[in-house]
Amino acid sequence: MIIINSVNEALRLVNDIKQSYKISLIPTMGNLHHGHLSLIQRASSETKRIVTIYVNRLQFDQIDDFKSYPKSYDHDIELCKKNNVDIVFIPNEEILIEESELKIDLPKFTKHLCGKYRKGHFLGVYKIIQELFRIFHPDFACFGKKDYQQLLLIKYITKTFYPDIKIISVDTVRNKNNIALSSRLNKLTPESLKKAEMIYNSISMIKDKLHNGKNFEDIKKETYNFLEENKISIEYIDHRSLISLEESHGKLLDSGIFIACNIDGIRLIDNIEI
Ligand code: PAJ
Repeated sequence: MIIINSVNEALRLVNDIKQSYKISLIPTMGNLHHGHLSLIQRASSETKRIVTIYVNRLQFDQIDDFKSYPKSYDHDIELCKKNNVDIVFIPNEEILIEESELKIDLPKFTKHLCGKYRKGHFLGVYKIIQELFRIFHPDFACFGKKDYQQLLLIKYITKTFYPDIKIISVDTVRNKNNIALSSRLNKLTPESLKKAEMIYNSISMIKDKLHNGKNFEDIKKETYNFLEENKISIEYIDHRSLISLEESHGKLLDSGIFIACNIDGIRLIDNIEI
């Protein structure tokens, strides 16, 4: 496994391997867990698998959140080795983005859900993904459905600017208590982790009730009250189209429940398809 630490090295290496191989890119911010590993495992062994580990300052709306983002480079490198990754990119410098070369075109759906609460977040994701695509010219790139709104944005970027890249969407990996794996879980105490189990339980209960013909706004109120009573502070619980992220207004086809909440100061998101 090759480890590279600068954009220049990456450009040189990609130039070489592109002659003979296809590339699968797996962008991450590190602190790897089984969710990330399922992306790596979905990348074809016929391709060169490149994992990037870079905590992108531009997508953080709070500087403390950026500074305290968990890092575990040695552990990440070991996991990548064990999972047959070919190249790990861990830049030891901030990736500079040539803004003049970037067409900024954020679609409307980035204003909903997390976009409403995390100012500048999707612009930051948009910039780093365009840059990573420009550096690595991947044939395939793997992303998780846990960050569904991000996945839609990446599909949009690909369709608009990089139509030759195929996006591989990977199902959310959960622990045995159905908590969606996230690097932020490391920051939770055992009691907070127990509370986090209520997130998926709540959205799957909403799903069942919707299928039984109940009205979303009524279920939402009940769920809201239940979670808030358990000291889970809700940012949003929405029923939206999986295609446009507009509110579903009772339409179940191609829709999902999306939730973002805070447990003891740690922000967690999840979603479920209806
Ligand atoms: P990060 O949170 O490290 O996630 C990297 C990738 O892993 C994303 O595609 C995310 O959706 C996926 N992922 C995270 N948890 C998952 C889980 N439990 N199951 C399945 N997939 C999961 O998302 C980012 O980093 C950044 O925004 C990035 C795309 C790297 C741009 O900076």
